[in-house]
Amino acid sequence: MAESKWLGPNRWAEIVGPGNAPGPGSVVGLVTNPNLKFAIIVGSTRPGRVGASVAQWVADQAKQRSATYDLVDLADFDLDLLNEPTVPGAAGGVYENPKTTRWSQTIEQYDGYVFVTPEYNHGVPAALKNAVDVLYPEWRNKAAALVSYGADGGVRAVEQWRQILANVVLHVTRGQMSIRTYDEILEGSFEPAQRRPEQIAALFDQLEPLADAVKILR
Ligand SMILES: Cc1cc2nc3c(=O)[nH]c(=O)nc-3n(C[C@H](O)[C@H](O)[C@H](O)COP(=O)(O)O)c2cc1C
Repeated sequence: MAESKWLGPNRWAEIVGPGNAPGPGSVVGLVTNPNLKFAIIVGSTRPGRVGASVAQWVADQAKQRSATYDLVDLADFDLDLLNEPTVPGAAGGVYENPKTTRWSQTIEQYDGYVFVTPEYNHGVPAALKNAVDVLYPEWRNKAAALVSYGADGGVRAVEQWRQILANVVLHVTRGQMSIRTYDEILEGSFEPAQRRPEQIAALFDQLEPLADAVKILR
């Protein structure tokens, strides 16, 4: 049984061993803040989408982390195309459309996000772009990581996301995971290559301390 203790900003110790205290037989390792909460956002709302299977795999891998990762399916929110009379940057998190309010309340509670994004016509998917556009303060000074998929790994969408997310002050990790559909999406389902678990763990390793570090800016 491991216990996590806070040592200061970005420094948590995981103590495993007798009495959960440093001493003979115990192992002490630095881990990231276990109280952080992340949403893994399924960025495709399309019937028959492969995105749900990619996001589910990410969520399964995240179960090994001390931090909490929830799967948030954009399709469950049935968001309207931006129809708020006040621009989100000026709305102060108060919206007229109940669907926007529900999305806002969901997104607000997280310290960071894993965007699972397809690439449509060499760009970002419209439904997920709209989901980002309808909010503003909810994203501000949090962290994000991008998992993309497409014929070329969805990397063009990722580069566009980096520009877009900068404007809502979402701090994006340098690393990303880009899945080539012809290699690893088989019969509509993600069949990860052997290296993927290690890659996604490395991405979580970047995301979690970044999310912890930018908390002070909120
Ligand atoms: C409207 C549309 C445009 C697409 N454009 C691209 C593209 O530019 N690049 C690419 O790699 N794949 C493209 N694809 C193929 C998608 O990568 C593939 O359909 C993938 O399954 C989409 O993700 P989803 O099933 O989770 O929606 C496109 C698919 C759609 C529906």
